[in-house]
Amino acid sequence: MYGDIVILSGAGISAESGIPTFRDSDGLWNNHRIEDVATIEAYYRNPEMVHDFYNELKKELQNAEPNPAHKAITRLQQEYKNGTVSVVTQNVDLLHEKAGNKNIYHIHGQINQAVCMNCAHVITTWGDVDTQTVCPQCGAVAMMKPNIVFFGENLLYMDKVDALLHKCKLFIAIGTSGAVYPANTFARITKYHGADTIEFNLHATVNNYDFDKHVMGKAGETFPEYVENLLKV
Ligand code: APR
Repeated sequence: MYGDIVILSGAGISAESGIPTFRDSDGLWNNHRIEDVATIEAYYRNPEMVHDFYNELKKELQNAEPNPAHKAITRLQQEYKNGTVSVVTQNVDLLHEKAGNKNIYHIHGQINQAVCMNCAHVITTWGDVDTQTVCPQCGAVAMMKPNIVFFGENLLYMDKVDALLHKCKLFIAIGTSGAVYPANTFARITKYHGADTIEFNLHATVNNYDFDKHVMGKAGETFPEYVENLLKV
């Protein structure tokens, strides 16, 4: 039986909820260049376009519903008695929350938040944010940016996440390509500290050598079955 568990989720866990991933054939990055909407330079160069991109994405994500993979995490958190189960997500959607998951760390930010670049105040809203949005804390105008971690920015909650990675005894990656640093180093870090590692994906990923086990298939089918068996141990 394991001790603490860390689950790292990527866009693939939300695919069966109808949310496009980033790098699959119909992925978000196929229709937009990362350098146009997901870098701090893009934001400084054209804040209106970046706000429009995330305001549109926000509308799509707001109505999405969690799928059996998200719900299986809730079951695991409720029934697993040998340690904590933490969710470190690269996703900016709120499907982990909607499914009732706890201990969630959005290391790439979340779509329903914006942060003031003057005073770091964070607002939570499903409404549009743009260059006219005034910071309710300091009154700055045109300083609110989507609370999405752009390429080149520091990840959020990493102090806490590092502690979780060093302590966990089971690391589970669900629906991530392993294409982005530093999330793609998490499996190796946990392995170094003695954890078993397992990935759930449609196929083997770029850092698949860091995983002891690979479960191929749709996470909405494979992960609930895995949780069922894990809870029997
Ligand atoms: N079940 C399991 N895995 C799936 C499913 C599914 N139903 N559908 C897709 N996948 C897998 C794909 O095979 C792919 O490996 O999910 C992964 C999605 O990979 P990406 O699109 O690269 O998404 P992600 O890994 O989350 O990207 C990481 O990159 O663009 C940045 O900040 C963005 O958080 C994102 C980060």
